[in-house]
Amino acid sequence: KSYLSEGLPLQGKNILITAGPTHEPIDPVRFIGNHASGLMGFELAKAAAKLGGKVILISGPTHLSVDDSAIQLVRVVTADQMFDAALGHYDKIDVAICAAAVADYKPKTVADQKIKKKAEDFTIELIKNKDILMTLGERKKNQYLVGFALETENELENAQAKLKKKHLDAIVLNSLNDAGAGFGKPTNKITFIDKNSTIKAFELKSKAEVALDIWNEIIARTHA
Ligand code: CTP
Ligand code: CA
Repeated sequence: KSYLSEGLPLQGKNILITAGPTHEPIDPVRFIGNHASGLMGFELAKAAAKLGGKVILISGPTHLSVDDSAIQLVRVVTADQMFDAALGHYDKIDVAICAAAVADYKPKTVADQKIKKKAEDFTIELIKNKDILMTLGERKKNQYLVGFALETENELENAQAKLKKKHLDAIVLNSLNDAGAGFGKPTNKITFIDKNSTIKAFELKSKAEVALDIWNEIIARTHA
């Protein structure tokens, strides 16, 4: 069943979305990052706005931009900045989706000058970043909270374990074992899993269409 044609199902709703990679500085000219494009999060934001929602889109470094007055784009660089922005807006949020590919670790110290080449071996000590999604889960009041999971083995089990551990209402499993899906690609293949273990697998399709599928599942579960 599609809920998306029934007027504006997200009218009056405040939506929070994290998107893109994070960049964790090593020194003034270098960082640790990943190849996330931000596209999935941006498509989720655009779809939410089209459905009547007011969106705060918190994005790490990306070439994407938005031109929609219903979307407030907050650009950040590091996981710490994304954490502060997300937590800062969370109280008034109705639905939050964490689609960002947050760096799991950051350099323990950031050199204030460019690191010079010296020894043959060079090690950077890393420390864990705060888990934004897990913190949103711990501080959840009435928000409907959705995470993403990227797994290469035991996909469903691992995704469901993440859903429980982070106190989520639903999790979107990204299937990488498909040549057309995932990082940097315009398409994605997802499985939507909710906290009642209802599992819905979707076909490979454009990220714009995937975003609408995800919103349809969320709206179906939040329309009392
Ligand atoms: N996430 C987050 N903050 C982090 C790490 C992850 O908000 N510091 C969110 C991602 O945005 C995603 C979900 O947590 O919605 C799962 O991310 P994923 O990398 O699949 O899982 P991790 O919990 O980081 O575990 P691992 O990478 O070891 O599988
Ligand atoms: Ca991770």
